[in-house]
Amino acid sequence: MEKIFISDIGKYEGQTVTIQAWLYNKRSSGKLHFLQLRDGTAEIQAVVFQGNVSEEVFSMADKITQESVVEVTGTVKKHERSRIGYELDAQDVKVLSVATDYPITPKEHGTHFLMENRHLWLRSLKQKAILRIRHRIIKSVRDFFDNDGFTLVDAPIFTPNACEGTTNLFETDYFDKKAYLTQSGQLYMEAAAMAVGKAYCFGPTFRAEKSKTRRHLTEFWMVEPEVAFMDIYGDMDLAERFVEYVVQEVVAHCRPELELLERDISKLENIKRPFPRITYDEAIEILHKKGNDTPWGEDLGGDEETLISEEFDKPVMIHHYPMCVKAFYMKQAENNTAACVDMIAPEGYGEIIGGGQREEDIEKLKAKIKEQGLSEDVFNWYLDIRKYGSVPHAGFGLGIERTVAWICGLHHVRETIPFPRLMDRLTP
Ligand code: 4AD
Ligand code: MG
Repeated sequence: MEKIFISDIGKYEGQTVTIQAWLYNKRSSGKLHFLQLRDGTAEIQAVVFQGNVSEEVFSMADKITQESVVEVTGTVKKHERSRIGYELDAQDVKVLSVATDYPITPKEHGTHFLMENRHLWLRSLKQKAILRIRHRIIKSVRDFFDNDGFTLVDAPIFTPNACEGTTNLFETDYFDKKAYLTQSGQLYMEAAAMAVGKAYCFGPTFRAEKSKTRRHLTEFWMVEPEVAFMDIYGDMDLAERFVEYVVQEVVAHCRPELELLERDISKLENIKRPFPRITYDEAIEILHKKGNDTPWGEDLGGDEETLISEEFDKPVMIHHYPMCVKAFYMKQAENNTAACVDMIAPEGYGEIIGGGQREEDIEKLKAKIKEQGLSEDVFNWYLDIRKYGSVPHAGFGLGIERTVAWICGLHHVRETIPFPRLMDRLTP
């Protein structure tokens, strides 16, 4: 008998095949047992009819426990109502590995319990759909830049300096010195862009986020493109093209997964250029009209981002924030603003992109480093980029987990990454 994967079942209609799979659910009625089977590639129902199997097999099939591994031999039959379109008419069932007391039953469980059992929870159909969509997002991120003339340049994880402020740095011993886990590969990508023109890095980044919110992890993955001879407007064009591509790739390749998650796909299909662009000043005006009294000069938080996103059905780019709320490397623009941009996802999923044009004037940059209380010594290498052939350049960082949350329609980022790291979660 041919041993096959469930995802290939359509090629074997009318034939007898053997599959090996976990039992994730089961029900019985009289002379029939219905075994819900999953082998990682797909799911299928095996029907065990008393008249088709030996007496031992029929009574044993009733006792198979959840997550036990079985080998089923049977005939492939069309079954329109099942997701895969087929079912298996069993002739023989063998148990290969017995699982007892699997903790995650088909009933509802609390989030804490599921998170403690994350290593098992990943097997559930919903979590599997999220893993698949995350994979597709990452693949399209890389395809986009690879097809657009970018070179992948890896940034280090151990760093001697801060990039995004010093309040959330993870510090670690590094022989007789201190090192920090990277918050962003940006500064290294600026160096790389001077070598290859268009560079990007993709990797884990770390921030000791002390607030418990639905949008913050302590370890998250970020993709960061950086381009020489590009200004803030080129940066916005790039971000818009990039996000449209990623969303449309997921729509094209992950429809069954999006449907399983009950995502409103029409909202994603609508994510086509151009995206709205507003200044920080206009964002403040919108907030005031909606009864939020954030004063000019203050950063926008999660609540403000949600209020603004309600005004648009596409991601909105907010540009030119006040200089004082942004990092030291931002290019100074008119009226004490920075030539920077944040992209806010629709439907209240928050900021997915932060970026902008970088200060190319070495004196202004030095003044900023001093003003923000950073030590110039550790930035000498970074200042060299301005010393030797300084050019306008810009880039951004997109957070993978927030993007997964938005595309999948998940309330909290903890389900967007296989093994989340949060302030209060280091296991499993
Ligand atoms: O806005 P951020 O801090 O920008 C930077 O790090 C720049 N240096 C990037 C660059 O220009 N190359 O972070 C970028 C994105 C955010 O928009 C958000 O999507 C994500 O990273 N992010 C987080 N995601 C999950 N958990 C956290 N704690 C995050 N902090 C930022
Ligand atoms: Mg930001």
